[in-house]
Amino acid sequence: TTGGFADATPGPGGEWHQTAGGDVPVLTTSQGIPVSDDQNSLKAGRRGPTLLEDFHFRDKMFHFDHERIPERVVHARGFGAHGVFETYESLSDLTSADLFQRAGEKTDIFVRFSTVAGNKGSADLARDVRGFAVRFYTKEGNWDLVGNNIPVFFIQDAIKFPDLIHAAKQEPDRGFPQAQTAHDNFWDFMSLTPEAMHMAMWIMSDRTIPRSFRFMEGFGVHTFRLVNAEGKSTFVKFHWKPVLGLQSVVWNEALKLNGMDPDYHRRDLWEAIQNGDYPEWELGFQLFDEEFAERFAFDVLDATKLIPEEDVPVRPVGKLTLNRTVDNFFMETEQVAFQTGNVVPGIDFSNDPLLQGRNFSYLDTQLKRLGGPNFTHIPINTPRCPMAHFQQDGHMAMRNPKGRANYEPNSWGGAAGGPREDPERGFRSWPEEMGGQKLRIRAELFADHYSQARQFFISQTEVEQTHIKDALVFELSKVETPVIRERVVSHLRNIDDDLAQKVADGLGLKSLPDAVAPARAVVQGLKP
Ligand code: HEM
Repeated sequence: TTGGFADATPGPGGEWHQTAGGDVPVLTTSQGIPVSDDQNSLKAGRRGPTLLEDFHFRDKMFHFDHERIPERVVHARGFGAHGVFETYESLSDLTSADLFQRAGEKTDIFVRFSTVAGNKGSADLARDVRGFAVRFYTKEGNWDLVGNNIPVFFIQDAIKFPDLIHAAKQEPDRGFPQAQTAHDNFWDFMSLTPEAMHMAMWIMSDRTIPRSFRFMEGFGVHTFRLVNAEGKSTFVKFHWKPVLGLQSVVWNEALKLNGMDPDYHRRDLWEAIQNGDYPEWELGFQLFDEEFAERFAFDVLDATKLIPEEDVPVRPVGKLTLNRTVDNFFMETEQVAFQTGNVVPGIDFSNDPLLQGRNFSYLDTQLKRLGGPNFTHIPINTPRCPMAHFQQDGHMAMRNPKGRANYEPNSWGGAAGGPREDPERGFRSWPEEMGGQKLRIRAELFADHYSQARQFFISQTEVEQTHIKDALVFELSKVETPVIRERVVSHLRNIDDDLAQKVADGLGLKSLPDAVAPARAVVQGLKP
């Protein structure tokens, strides 16, 4: 080498060869066989065809041919980083979750931010919801808080998720748009789904064009449960608040940034961390019990509703700091497999029908995306706490049980018998009372689709309201089918008549369509 750069010598055809020696390792095949020439395939004669016998060529090409795995069915485009979570104070009165037992406890973290609708190669500044998925590598297993940067969701029941995503992603005949919400199928679905109207206001707001990941909030969205050592349960909504505050770009900037640098958000995070400008978020809990939940005019199991912070303030419980970029994008960011089903003792689900469905979906999709059942053997998915179980075999198994015991109960004593249950520390579901008929139905309290949409709209400043109006006019002007545009305006009339009128004017509608008859009209917030 000269000055840190490698020398090369020309071969007979002018191709450059670089050789091993000193501290430069020998290139091998994937079977460890040393390679003599990586520039030329094995040929029959100087100008003859390539020989099938060339195992080095076949090994290299075979592996290359299989480099791609399916992109995530949603949230395909994302960017991850490592960090640490520090607990402010013991929360043992609320939860037995190990990471919340001791003030100053530090837990390793991996975060992946993402857009939802766009393909893996789409642009960062698309108007879209952002994923905010956090893995806590706790001493009692992985807890994944798989959230978004918006506190509510489009739908109330997981059975509608395939429809929502089909409508939101590229249209099947044309293969576009790749990353924008502006198209007929998306707004058709939205307009036929009144429960999506609250989310519609959020996605038309500046929240969906964040300045960078560092200026985004995060939300667990669903109501979850905390359970303490005595078995007492408290409902919780999870919040991430960026220490830098909340900032967005304006639409015009988003369009230019997408053109100039489609990697704008991932570059921002990479550079901030590389420069030691570590981004931070506070984790906050909104806490309430069953009795308090009864007082809301809506159902706390409905993911299209939020709990107003005026009614239940957010209590800060710890801080997340992102302080390390990945060593390898594919190994970490691409192969990480977050799951809502990954909860630890002290944290439990609620009966939110969206959350219940998600608990099936993530595991199911990852079986395919990561090529088999052993994706917890990939380092980014491996818990960083002691682990022992009797799962074995399957594609790419790296960690089969040692010794004779691969089942239990068994008669082999001590360590030879392998791991056993622990009724004290083992995960126990909170014993919620269940009963009633088996029905395909939604609870009546899920039926108010406009109150919180209105509440959100009127809580915005005049400038932000104008941005929402402009976004609606822009998006709907890309919708070709008049009846879809009009149906959206009919919903807007139940949210804010002035907004509906302005959007109708912006779209050049001749008259204001009638309002959709609301299924149920109640005022958002606590019951009087
Ligand atoms: C990713 C399903 C709702 C946040 C995914 C993936 C699936 C999925 C299949 C791809 C996972 C993978 O390949 O690893 C669903 C279903 C939902 C739903 C069925 C509703 C029934 C939500 C909601 C949120 C959310 C409400 C936010 C609270 C995310 C995030 C990711 C993701 C952040 C990306 C995770 C990553 O960065 O790897 N979802 N999802 N999803 N979902 Fe959902």
